[in-house]
Amino acid sequence: MGSAEERKAWRLPVFFRSKLKVLLLVVSTNLLSVYFFSGANYAIVGGSDVLTRELNSTRLKLSESREEHAQLRRRLETASGLLEALLSELGRRHGDQAVSDDLDGWPDELLGELKLAAGPHELPLGYNHNLGTDELFPTLGFACRRFQEELTRYMSYEVGKECPSDGVFAQRLMLKGCEPLPRRRCLPASPKGYVEPAALPESLWATPPDTSVVWDAYACKNYSCLVNRGRGRGSHDCNDCFDLKGREKSRWLADGGGVDFGIDGVLATKPKGTVRIGLDIGGGSGTFAARMRERGVTVVSTTMDLDGPFNSFIASRGLLPMHISVAHRLPFFDNTLDVVHSMHVLSNWIPEPMLEFALYDVYRVLRPGGLFWLDHFFCIGEQLNATYVPMIERVGFNKLRWVTARKLDRGTEKNEWYLSALLERPMT
Ligand SMILES: *[C@@H]1O[C@H](CO)[C@@H](O)[C@H](O)[C@H]1NC(C)=O
Ligand SMILES: *[C@@H]1O[C@H](CO)[C@@H](O)[C@H](O)[C@H]1NC(C)=O
Ligand SMILES: *[C@@H]1O[C@H](CO)[C@@H](O)[C@H](O)[C@H]1NC(C)=O
Repeated sequence: MGSAEERKAWRLPVFFRSKLKVLLLVVSTNLLSVYFFSGANYAIVGGSDVLTRELNSTRLKLSESREEHAQLRRRLETASGLLEALLSELGRRHGDQAVSDDLDGWPDELLGELKLAAGPHELPLGYNHNLGTDELFPTLGFACRRFQEELTRYMSYEVGKECPSDGVFAQRLMLKGCEPLPRRRCLPASPKGYVEPAALPESLWATPPDTSVVWDAYACKNYSCLVNRGRGRGSHDCNDCFDLKGREKSRWLADGGGVDFGIDGVLATKPKGTVRIGLDIGGGSGTFAARMRERGVTVVSTTMDLDGPFNSFIASRGLLPMHISVAHRLPFFDNTLDVVHSMHVLSNWIPEPMLEFALYDVYRVLRPGGLFWLDHFFCIGEQLNATYVPMIERVGFNKLRWVTARKLDRGTEKNEWYLSALLERPMT
């Protein structure tokens, strides 16, 4: 359930709650009047017997009614105590400021595995001086707190046993911002009939055996299905990229002029052998990394398993998949990588602020003189000069190559444009 819906669901009780406050006020007022009445002083002055008897009986009645009042007062006190308890419970459910601080931003108290995984975990005595804290909170996507119900489901399993088959569910949580997910104490299912992968360098261009994948999460149940899917209509972003005998084979080989740069031309902009380690953001089935590996460059490919076993496929090729989304801060240290590449992924579908943060993050992980190959960035014609060119220029890369062209492969009527750029982080 989306968090907006969740919040809406709580609106009624908020109204209900203010009614309860009024009720409590009425009860307190009555309590006050009972105190006044029962606290009255019944002074009896002497006189005739009749009068005395009457007075005596009045006194008796008064003392009886005093007792009744005392009982009533006790009951009201109990009732008001219950009301206060009820109100504070409602306040807690609504995430009242003071109370939600106690829950570290979670809507409800954490229980079970989720509580254990989310921490905090106290450090042993004497180990806290380097860290500036006495306790550790395991890393967990900030937005996880918005999806506590789903996360609780994700964390429901038998410790030490096989994990539920919930890869799609888990990845959806990641894409909503619950990234990274908490660790779990269960074991992923193994593919049935698993065989050792092919040896390098053959593995780079060998379609892995179907037995290397747990297919539960995907519509296709084998690689020939995935390859044929690519020959159909263009409903997938990485449509033909499981077909290693098709278009994948020729990607980035030729420098075709225009927005298609070739790997060799790009590497030639740097002294031979100085581009050694890099990252491909949204690396599809790993072909960019494969071509780079053939040239002695180690490239990590980030990829989500959207409707296909991308991570497993890349790994079977003998390349390094990394399962993070484009929203994730790049898990590399500052000033470290020789090259960052991204094709089709960094584009106008990413909300502008998020894209700008991503571009700065690319700059951050590149070493001085490192290359950023922004490959086939696409957007609407007017957006290019109005939004994206200024955004890219603001970050401060040098432009080694810069080509824009009409995007003719799909939806030409929409005036879509491609930008391919070879950018360099300045040396100083
Ligand atoms: C009034 O009540 C007292 C006890 O409370 C009793 O001692 C007294 O005799 C009573 N007087 C009359 C007139 O009934
Ligand atoms: C692959 O899977 C599809 C359905 O996803 C099935 O129709 C086909 O027979 C399978 N092919 C092989 C070679 O197992
Ligand atoms: C962007 O501006 C340049 C010149 O500043 C111009 O040549 C180009 O046609 C513009 N591109 C688009 C897509 O409007």
